[in-house]
Amino acid sequence: MSQGLDDVIAAETRLSSVDGARGILVVKGFSLDQIAGRKRFEEVAHLLSEGLLDHLPDAKAFAARLGAAREAVYPLAQYIDDALLALPPMDGVRALTARIEDGEDVATALRLLAAPAVLLPAFLRRRRGLAPIPPAATAGHAADMLHMLTGEVPAPDVAGALDTYLVTVADHGLNASTFAARVVASTWSGLTSSVLAGLAALKGPLHGGAPGPIIAMLDGIGKPENAESWIEDALDRGDRLMGFGHRIYKVRDPRADALKAAVKRMSADSSALPGRLKLAEAVERAALKVLHARKPDRPLDVNVEFYTALLLEALGFPPDAFTAVFATGRTAGWIAHAREQRLTGRLIRPQSIYVGPEPAELV
Ligand code: CMC
Repeated sequence: MSQGLDDVIAAETRLSSVDGARGILVVKGFSLDQIAGRKRFEEVAHLLSEGLLDHLPDAKAFAARLGAAREAVYPLAQYIDDALLALPPMDGVRALTARIEDGEDVATALRLLAAPAVLLPAFLRRRRGLAPIPPAATAGHAADMLHMLTGEVPAPDVAGALDTYLVTVADHGLNASTFAARVVASTWSGLTSSVLAGLAALKGPLHGGAPGPIIAMLDGIGKPENAESWIEDALDRGDRLMGFGHRIYKVRDPRADALKAAVKRMSADSSALPGRLKLAEAVERAALKVLHARKPDRPLDVNVEFYTALLLEALGFPPDAFTAVFATGRTAGWIAHAREQRLTGRLIRPQSIYVGPEPAELV
């Protein structure tokens, strides 16, 4: 038995592969550094959908349909009320996404893919007492999301930073949320149900919920020279350091490097970011030193979430919304995996070992 299913192979996939020993992520035949910062999110989502969705001939047609899908889901923003606004953004987005009718067709897939990019900015604006901004169907997905958030058309390098992020997190093997999405797909429940399962699993801090608390950690540390003692104290309390460690990567998470490079590109035009980056690098150095001293046999390195926090903060997302931005990218992976699982037609139904009491007397 494997409590965390560590060594269990539960699917055959053509979508992505994670080589944890060498620190390599491959998405549909491309290594991460061949696509992060080079391809737009809609191109990668199209790539992931190839062979799975009903025929969408090329990436341009896919992007146009995705733009139309953003317009189609925008009316769901009318359901953002005070009760919803009292919830964390991830829960708000999940509740709104649940209003998309379940189905397995390409229109449902595109609406689900569009939903977080539209509904998260609408939620965040309403929370700030501002009116939501409708999508622009012809804009790039990342640029449109930022426009709906800030009301300003983002500079190309700013939209490019969000694009890099969304591409970096679009798919990542059989991670917990993708597995959850596949389990639901295997019951023939429908794509909306699969995406809702993915959202529910992603929310936890051991998976996609880490980057918000990373901002709290950086704020708590405050200055580079405080990093080591702060980290020692946190570990003495039994806390986990958010943004470090990974189930699969035994070396550095390649996604962290892709995002750190994007943060560095952005920091050239920012007054606040260089200082933040300097602090983060000091925290990274101190954390690696302390973690290595405490666990010499299990090298723990920085993971995707660490530089995600810096990037999304610089783009103007509040920390409690970071996980929902992660979901905006990962929805592409969930949908593709759900479709791939559905094609197998096979129900996922593992077994457990019963260790409870036996009936006193068997008649
Ligand atoms: N801080 C302190 N100790 C840690 C950390 C950490 N970040 N990560 C692992 N450990 C410890 C862990 O407690 C275990 O100790 P022990 O053997 O004494 O119980 C040991 O290191 C080995 O852990 P592991 O088996 O390698 O870790 P895992 O596969 O169970 O957990 C993880 C992976 C990501 C849940 C974990 O590293 C963690 O909790 N990290 C912090 C949260 C985080 O950054 N999450 C985002 C993950 S990346 C996004 C994604 O792809 O989902």
